[in-house]
Order: sequence, then C-alpha cells, then structure tokens
Amino acid sequence: MNSFSFYNPTRIIFGQDSLSQLDSQIPQSARVLILLGGNSARHNGTLDEVTAALGERTVFEFNGIEPNPSYETLMEAVALVRREKLDFLLAVGGGSVIDGTKFVAAAVPFDGEPWGILESGGQRIERALPFGTVLTLPATGSEMNNGGVVTRKATQDKLPFRSQHVFPQFSVMDPTKTYTLPPRQIANGVVDAFVHITEQYLTYPAGGMAQDRFAEGLLQTLVEIGPRALETPQDYETRANLMWVATLALNGLIGAGVPQDWATHMIGHELTALYDIDHARTLAIVLPSLLQVQREDKRGKLLQYAERVWHITEGDDDARIDQAIAHTRAFFESVGIATRLGDYDLGPEAVDAVVAQLDKHGLTALGEHKNINLDVSRSILNAAL
Ligand code: NZQ
Ligand code: ZN
Repeated sequence: MNSFSFYNPTRIIFGQDSLSQLDSQIPQSARVLILLGGNSARHNGTLDEVTAALGERTVFEFNGIEPNPSYETLMEAVALVRREKLDFLLAVGGGSVIDGTKFVAAAVPFDGEPWGILESGGQRIERALPFGTVLTLPATGSEMNNGGVVTRKATQDKLPFRSQHVFPQFSVMDPTKTYTLPPRQIANGVVDAFVHITEQYLTYPAGGMAQDRFAEGLLQTLVEIGPRALETPQDYETRANLMWVATLALNGLIGAGVPQDWATHMIGHELTALYDIDHARTLAIVLPSLLQVQREDKRGKLLQYAERVWHITEGDDDARIDQAIAHTRAFFESVGIATRLGDYDLGPEAVDAVVAQLDKHGLTALGEHKNINLDVSRSILNAAL
C-alpha cells in the first residue's frame, strides 16, 4: 500500500427530515447566502424548508448556477457576497451548485483575479468562507470532498481545482429530496459514481486490500440499485443507498494509499466544454474505450474486476477482460446512457477538437502511469466513435 495522508472534516447529516438540523450548524449571527441552480429547489419545496430552518438570520439568495457552473455566473455571486458582506454560504442543489459554492467561497477572499484558482488547480487558495450544503442530487461526491470544476464559457475551459480550504463544513443529505429528479439525472448520478470508483480502483494492484474490497462493494451496490432507482423513484432505501454510495465513491476513503487514474474525467471534461454533453455521459463514452486501449497496463485489476464485480470466471484472461469491458458498457446503456460518440452526433472532427483542447490544457500525460499522451487519448477517442 502507498503512504498517504487522509483528512476529511465534513459532517454528514443524513436521513429523512435531516434539514431541520440546519439551524444547529450555522452561527445565529451569520449573514447567509443561499446558492441555487435553476428552479428545482424552489419548485419542490426544498428552498422553503431551508429558509424556514434558517429562522431569523439575515439571508440572501443567488439563483441561476447552471449545470457545469460558469466562472462568469459565479463571479456575480462573488460580487454579491462582497457587496453585502455575507459570511456564510449554503449550497442547495447538485454538484454544480456545490462546486460553484466552493469556488465562490475561495474567490471572495482571493488576492488577484480569481481565475487564478483554476489556473493553479486550487493551489493558490489560502483561505475560504465557511459553507455547508443541502444535497439534492446523488452523483459527484462534492458534498464531502474538497474539489470542484468550473467552466469559463468565453474560452471553453472546464478546469478542476482542489484545496483543503474548500471542504464543506457540513452536508445535509435527505434521500427524499431526490424524489423529484428526472430519470436522466438519476442515470447520470449512477454512472458518475461508478466511474469515480473505477478511477481509483481500475489501475494496478497496489496491495490496498480494504480499498479494493470497499470499491468492489460500492460498484456492486450501484449495479444492484441503479436500475431500481429508476424503476421505483420513491423507494426510500434505494435512494438512501444511492446517495450514500455516491458520497463514499469520492470522499477520499477508497483512493487513500492506492494509485489513481482520472484520465476518463479529464478527457470527459473537454467533451462537456466543447459539446455541452452531461458530465456522466462523457464518462460513459470514454471509460469503456479507455479500458480497451489501456488493457495491458490495467490487466491485473481488470481480471480482479471481472471476477469480483461481474463474477466472470469462464474463458482465458483476454476473454474475461473483454467480457468485463462489455458488461461495463452494457451497464451504462441499461440505465439509458449511450456510450458512443456517434450517439451524440459526433464524429472524427470531435476527436481532433478534444485532442487539441487536451494539448491546450497541458493534459498530455494522464493516467496512473502518466502514459496517456495525446496519441493515446486520440486512440481512446477513436475507439469511442
Ligand atoms: O439547476 P436546477 O434547477 O436545480 O436543476 C438541476 C440541474 O438541471 C437538476 N436537479 C438537481 N437536484 C434536483 C434537480 N431536479 C429535480 N429535483 C432535484 N432534487 O439536475 C440538473 C443537474 O444538476 P448538476 O448539479 O449539474 O448535476 P451533478 O450533480 O451531476 O453535477 C455535475 C457537475 O459536477 C462536476 C461536473 O463536472 C459537473 O460540472 N463534478 C464535480 C466533482 C467534484 N466536485 O468532486 C466530481 C465530478 O467528477 C464532477 O466532475
Ligand atoms: Zn465525475
């Protein structure tokens, strides 16, 4: 096992009616900004519950953080926080609203042009406003991690940042708040969480026995409950498990002490920035092809994945790897997510465009061995046509 330092200070308040605990988590004297996406939280009553729980505190609202939150929009929130001297942020929404809130929290006290946060991958963040979240969409794990992704629309740059200063202080997770999600977003959540796990598991054997078993358990749970979450939207146990699995998939635990890949995400981000494809859909396009192209590097783990997650025991090593990749693709398709560039009306021109963006962003040595250069990325994308 590799050496590691693990830190996660986020309090999780989980369960039905957990919103009532908001009051005890935010100082009475706080001047609060609630950050929101489009209209979902207003329509389904979540926002009313949040404002009721905040009681007599001074509360402002910022609406309109879009999916794949933009720098341009978030800078408006930064201006509002500075103007009104607000001192506590509360994200109410999915990964986009939470990521956007992390950015705002870091940008308000940032010295200089806040785009520097993205240019430095978060390294230049020295402090951030305190914030909490009310999660309404199980998918990204942003509710219990220190990462975010922000897009600059003007230049089509979608860049990640991380900092120990942007862990949420708390996240309220009420599975009933996911009941209003459209099937498309549930499917996205299942696939995003699945790929977060494979990014930390499907690398090479590193002796992380608990991490491996934990990852395999989370993957198997997603395979079991993913279709059910779509079929029976108001099944509390299914939604509760999906919500907690998605959090555990990216709260740092399963990635501690083991190699990590993340090439699927980096290539996927470029597809979203260029063609506005949902984050999870880009992952479903890239991952099966990446596993195919990188199958020699990943051989040991792919065989373990085949046996322990998919119970594939027939055939020689290569046949079992083929089956494992086919099962992965079929699982994504089974929740309604297409896995080929052609399904999104993209052809070879998209391969050239994505490779050019990877080059522009210096993403020329991806993967657990840093051997996914631009030629390999091109092969992966070609295999996804
Ligand atoms: O904007 P509203 O009206 O709220 O509607 C949203 C949005 O249209 C809707 N929604 C959310 N909760 C709902 C709901 N609709 C009905 N009922 C509810 N309870 O869902 C739509 C999508 O929301 P979004 O927040 O964009 O989705 P998701 O949670 O999948 O977040 C995606 C973003 O997270 C980033 C992605 O790159 C993308 O920008 N990621 C963040 C990560 C992290 N911080 O660790 C890791 C991930 O790999 C990912 O990159
Ligand atoms: Zn993701």
